[in-house]
Amino acid sequence: MNLQDFTKLLRTRWITIVVTMLVSVLAAVAYSLLTTPLYQASTRLYVSTSAGSSAADLYQGNRLSQERVLSYTQLITGETLAQRTIDKLGVNMTAPALQERVKASAKLDTVLIDVSVLDESPVRARDIANALSDEFVVMVRELETPKPGAAPDARVIVEQRASVPTKPVIPKTARNLAIGLGLGLLTGIGLAVLRDMLDNTVKSRETLEEITGVGIVGAIPLDKVRRNQPVIPFDTETSAIAEAFRKLRTNLQFLSVDNPPRVIIVTSSVPNEGKSTTAINLALALAEAEHNVVLVDGDMRRPSLDRYLHLVGQVGFSTVLSGGASLSEVLQQTQYPRLTVLTSGAIPPNPSELLGSMAAKTVLTELRQKFDYVIVDSAPLLAVTDGALLAANADGALIMTRFGQTKRDQVVHAARNLADVGASLLGAVLTMMPTRGGGSYSYSYSYSYYGESAKPESKEAKSAASDTSPESSDTAP
Ligand SMILES: Nc1ncnc2c1ncn2[C@@H]1O[C@H](COP(=O)(O)OP(=O)(O)O)[C@@H](O)[C@H]1O
Ligand SMILES: [Mg+2]
Repeated sequence: MNLQDFTKLLRTRWITIVVTMLVSVLAAVAYSLLTTPLYQASTRLYVSTSAGSSAADLYQGNRLSQERVLSYTQLITGETLAQRTIDKLGVNMTAPALQERVKASAKLDTVLIDVSVLDESPVRARDIANALSDEFVVMVRELETPKPGAAPDARVIVEQRASVPTKPVIPKTARNLAIGLGLGLLTGIGLAVLRDMLDNTVKSRETLEEITGVGIVGAIPLDKVRRNQPVIPFDTETSAIAEAFRKLRTNLQFLSVDNPPRVIIVTSSVPNEGKSTTAINLALALAEAEHNVVLVDGDMRRPSLDRYLHLVGQVGFSTVLSGGASLSEVLQQTQYPRLTVLTSGAIPPNPSELLGSMAAKTVLTELRQKFDYVIVDSAPLLAVTDGALLAANADGALIMTRFGQTKRDQVVHAARNLADVGASLLGAVLTMMPTRGGGSYSYSYSYSYYGESAKPESKEAKSAASDTSPESSDTAP
């Protein structure tokens, strides 16, 4: 994975990263809130050694003090002093428990000792720190007096007494939050990389070309408007999705220049990959370019062209195949110029048998003679053989692959199903490509180019265009 792949990954999986960071920061907040606050009170002790008045004696005395400081820090955190402090204050605590809360430190080459005490109560922290220091003064006097009545060799003065701390030192909320944020970011990125590694959906042209063995003839962007209205009004539409279908139309004419395919099956591996939507809009794009087009609903299990185009669905392809009507009787003219539709007709009990029949082949041949293009919508290839059977009788098939949804092995199987019946695969189409985020990266240039060159005039076209253009935001009207 190079740097470019990595930034692309971060862009596509930013939600994973942000959510992990949020969870981690919330955990840090919860941890801080649940931690019992501890207050710290500190005193400072000064160690002096009785010495003579000469410079040498003073130096000697200072050296002795410095040497003592180290042993004193041990004594301050020792059990004896802890017990004496507890006895003096009468607090309900064991000596080891108190020892754990006492810290003593001496700076190198000084005669100063810093003592600090942690406690849940700020007042008690101060009291313990002061009592402990006072007791230590007494303790040192006892220890350093060589024989009763003599002057002690060293003494300790409480140079600075403890006051009541105002703010707790624990929890360290800011530090916890920073750790939470940092850990969250790292875990988030880790999860994003992991999810990316486990993701086996088709997300790039290269992958799709590699597994189908044919070129990409179209890349249809995701367009929210299409969820409710699959039909693109090509006469007013200048949005990215309309341009994508025009480009698909152009690419089809380049497929085999001497004998361009005219009977084309639109198929895919699984449902909801945009077969019907693509079939309709490809047909409309071809009709826009002055071709006479017939759109056939070859999906006899879940027909949708009648619904999407508001046509009569009860009579159609299946009616002709069963001999119930002649072809010319069931072809429906649409409100769109040069577009004729053959709906699927009543759902038969044996679609595969019907679509694999000679009658079906004859219908396609007849349509080929009457129209410039025959675009056939079909059922998903992994579910049933219908699509493959139709493709075997056509010039070839276009295989739809839904970006980020269709799995690689599903496409591989679908392509194999087509090959098994001797159908030719004309090209692959990536559908519902995100217009923003990492996946769209390599396409954003071409779409923004179209968006700029064709400025929408009407308000309707403008809003439709802004919905799909890569620069638009989610809040666009
Ligand atoms: N480019 C697109 N952008 C947004 N939604 C789409 C797009 N193409 C198709 N859809 C929606 O996805 C759903 C499935 O599309 P459809 O064409 O019926 O798929 P299929 O025929 O493969 O089952 C429909 O609701 C349709 O409106
Ligand atoms: Mg469909």
